[in-house]
Amino acid sequence: MKKVMLIDCCVRGVHSRTLMLAHRWLAEQERDSQVEHLRLYQLNLAPLSAQEVEQRKDTALGEQFAQADEIVVAAPYWDLSFPSILKVYLEHICIAGTTFHYVEDQAVGLCRAKRLVYVSTAGGYVGQRHLGEEYVQTLCQTLFGIPDFVGIRCEGLDLPGNDPEQLVAMVRFG
Ligand SMILES: Cc1cc2nc3c(=O)[nH]c(=O)nc-3n(C[C@H](O)[C@H](O)[C@H](O)COP(=O)(O)O)c2cc1C
Repeated sequence: MKKVMLIDCCVRGVHSRTLMLAHRWLAEQERDSQVEHLRLYQLNLAPLSAQEVEQRKDTALGEQFAQADEIVVAAPYWDLSFPSILKVYLEHICIAGTTFHYVEDQAVGLCRAKRLVYVSTAGGYVGQRHLGEEYVQTLCQTLFGIPDFVGIRCEGLDLPGNDPEQLVAMVRFG
């Protein structure tokens, strides 16, 4: 059975439109997959301490990420990128020897996933560059070795006159 990891960066829990959109995506995928829902706000994550910076040792979080068959990140669009808890999580999983390693001076990914799906919703319009998507996609390409990236967005949710739930329901996944 395919192991899909849902990395939930949505502080508003059941009220989160981003999480709703991620659940819609998951519901349309193959039935024979098992979804592991990782709620970042429940993990008591903290930025790396001085000791952790020295050690950069293997973590259960890094192993879990490396072993997933597919990753879905649900992250609202905050301050042109994503909530800081996602960056803190990424600090904990970017571990040489677990999610990537070096071959001579090149980073080579050690992650099993072939695809990462990045789901976000925005209050306004994102415009030309979505720095959150771009950052995570670059990590996938240059560190984790995850070749396929899919960005799913729904924009304009907080604009006057818009019905956010209807906008989320109208997103087509292609
Ligand atoms: C701290 C914070 C920062 C935000 N920054 C932006 C932003 O830069 N651009 C934008 O269009 N919307 C911004 N928004 C609005 C959110 O993107 C929007 O409400 C989104 O749908 C929230 O997702 P959620 O329903 O999953 O919580 C921000 C909201 C918050 C709470």
